[in-house]
Amino acid sequence: MNKVVEVLPDKEALIQRSLELVLTKMQAAITQRGLCTIALSGGSTPKPLYEKIAQQNLPWDKIHVFWGDERYVPPTHPDSNERMARQAWLDQVPMPPSNIHPMPTGSGDPAQDANQYEVDLQAFFQLQPGEFPTLDIILLGMGDDGHTASLFPHTDALQVRDRLITVGNKDGQPRLTFTAPLINQARTVIFVVAGASKRPALAQVFADVADNSQYPSRLIQPQGELWWLLDQAAGEGIQG
Ligand code: 6PG
Repeated sequence: MNKVVEVLPDKEALIQRSLELVLTKMQAAITQRGLCTIALSGGSTPKPLYEKIAQQNLPWDKIHVFWGDERYVPPTHPDSNERMARQAWLDQVPMPPSNIHPMPTGSGDPAQDANQYEVDLQAFFQLQPGEFPTLDIILLGMGDDGHTASLFPHTDALQVRDRLITVGNKDGQPRLTFTAPLINQARTVIFVVAGASKRPALAQVFADVADNSQYPSRLIQPQGELWWLLDQAAGEGIQG
């Protein structure tokens, strides 16, 4: 694993740096493999990044978009990560609809929908049973409690090793989420984290010794590159 930590002066600089890095990794994937696969994070932090990506002139037909996690709500719901990314980016550009791979949330059974997305990923990446796909880019955020994607502290989702997708649990509310082994298979994982409220958890995530199940972002140790992009408010005192 190659780990890089950058602390940017403010949120604006953080988003601009995130854009530069994402564009660099997208271009490299398209040049080397003819297409780029990227998984999006939800929450509030990445929205301005998605808005900036939408302003780029990119070969949209060569970019395939997945989600690293989703709230278990319809795609029309205000809490939907799919809805946020469509409004900020995907609906603003001529990306072929077949390049957009949202997590299904419509069966009423989160486990069934998690399984369906796993089947969708296996089909797209032409995987054999038990194989894990290598996405080019996985974007992640981190909650004040140290969770990432929908891998929340002390939840069963943290123990899942043999699946691509599992059901997350946020205070009893179901979520769909990439598992840690799937995230760790990526070529490039990029955490984009802003705000002073994240500082205590970041200190634990970067500590030599801490409880991985209490701070699930510690589980993210990809085989490829790991980037932590932080604004000063979050990254004050953080050593790479
Ligand atoms: C989600 C996310 C989640 C998010 C963190 C940080 O669906 O909520 O994927 O993991 O990245 O909760 O959220 P903020 O960016 O809003 O602080």
